[in-house]
Amino acid sequence: MNKTGMKDNTEGEEQQVEQPQTNRLDRRSFLRKSAITLTGLGLTSAFPFLHTSAKSLNYPFTLGVASGDPLPGGVVLWTRLAPNPLIGGGMPPEQVEVGWEVSRNRSFSQLVGSGSTVAGPKYGHSVHVEVDGLAPGSWYYYRFRANGETSPIGRTKTAPAYGAKPDELNFAFASCQHYASGYYTAYDHLVEEGLDVVFFLGDYIYEKGGQGEIGRGHLPIHEIYSLEDYRIRYAQYRSDPSLQAAHAAFPWIVTPDDHEVKNNWGGEGPPYDNNEDFLARRANAFQAYYEHMPLRKASIPENIDMQLYRDFTFGDLATFNVLDTRQFRTDFACDDGVHSGCSERLDPSRTILGDEQETWLFNNLANSDTRWNILPQQIMMAQGDRKAGEGTAYSMDKWDGYVASRNRLFEVLKTNDIKNMVVLTGDSHKNWVNNLKEDFSNPDSPVLGTEFMGTSISSSGDGQDTNSLGKRLLRENPHIKFFNAQRGYVRCRLTPEEFRADFRILPYVTSSGAPVKTRASFIVKNGTPGALQVS
Ligand SMILES: [Fe+2]
Repeated sequence: MNKTGMKDNTEGEEQQVEQPQTNRLDRRSFLRKSAITLTGLGLTSAFPFLHTSAKSLNYPFTLGVASGDPLPGGVVLWTRLAPNPLIGGGMPPEQVEVGWEVSRNRSFSQLVGSGSTVAGPKYGHSVHVEVDGLAPGSWYYYRFRANGETSPIGRTKTAPAYGAKPDELNFAFASCQHYASGYYTAYDHLVEEGLDVVFFLGDYIYEKGGQGEIGRGHLPIHEIYSLEDYRIRYAQYRSDPSLQAAHAAFPWIVTPDDHEVKNNWGGEGPPYDNNEDFLARRANAFQAYYEHMPLRKASIPENIDMQLYRDFTFGDLATFNVLDTRQFRTDFACDDGVHSGCSERLDPSRTILGDEQETWLFNNLANSDTRWNILPQQIMMAQGDRKAGEGTAYSMDKWDGYVASRNRLFEVLKTNDIKNMVVLTGDSHKNWVNNLKEDFSNPDSPVLGTEFMGTSISSSGDGQDTNSLGKRLLRENPHIKFFNAQRGYVRCRLTPEEFRADFRILPYVTSSGAPVKTRASFIVKNGTPGALQVS
């Protein structure tokens, strides 16, 4: 037994955890049990600092529940107490006790863990409980209690045990959910998929005050800079019922891109008008991001720094190295934008990951003992010549602006004979499939890896199957195999023999209720980098 009172069951998959046959707990016994099994923050005494006045407040779970960062033995459980989410949250400036329960079943008759933690004003009354001692590869249900109220029930799943040999892993990845641009119908379909985990690759919120044309205008109505404003923006996004359902259905592994802070930011700036203001804004944005995501304590921001790159293993099947391509990048080459003839982008001293993250990633790849090495990250890794006809033009915000970083990564693949690297990308609001080539400009150059880029959930509105950008890039870049500019997500099925990506798209998002269909499916075969279209 571990300190949570749960059996530490880390061997083998799908083992049944021993548990007391507890009936549905009434509030009194729930709190009594919580007091006995204090865990959340390692507290060992009662709560002398707790106030009870919050009990008279309204329902605090307006933002739903979430779980994330699954390990073989546990997950993070998240909620935020916000009876008045769009008006500063609505909690008094006090610490409030929050109870939590984890059960094998939705009726909570098979409890495997429970405890109490406190939510306080410092982190916007957000709650991050790191539950451990769970069985690997297993489904659980969880809920919270506070202010005399019970939260919605969330469902989550732990990762398979280290060394386990899963037959398959099912996941989806998504990105870019501009609230004012469309409904989150994609999530209504995503929750129906048989997934183990969801990856979100950035642009969870947008920072400007756009009002759009469908009655989902941003709150606050202006561009956000302060912590209070970022909180309101997250609360608005998080109040969407489809998004809440998607968080409640699966554990999520998240990484931010630029709009969680500011469009096309990188490092500590410049090019910003006032760098000091930008850094204060970055700190506010990171704190609000932490407060609203199911992240572990390791990701609690310290001023302008936040630990976001991290790895997850799913038995011997896959390692996911989640990247942070914003925080440590050197400044944009040639002042950002799309450029022809910018030699600065080739400077070998440029980095998109920073030295530490690069070392971490390259070590993980070199020492990987899983079949697949997957890089969930933000921006297009493949070369993308954007100029029609003669000559070339590249986007400085992408890996094309950091060519030396890309080359160093590709060198690691070659040196270590790594065949099964698959990159998952957000940012572009389009679906793409790209072969990653040692030399993109040489048709005979070997393919070293595969990149699947997923479209947006709602950003850029309805979209269309193709457009002039897609036609141009497909023509100019033979390693780009597919383009689509509609909304949706990418469903993936991973087995020892094959990585399969199904591009799930919706015909519209500016009104609700759109159906979903698979626009195209690609596979990567074990040992053979590069994508093959199968439908
Ligand atoms: Fe975006």
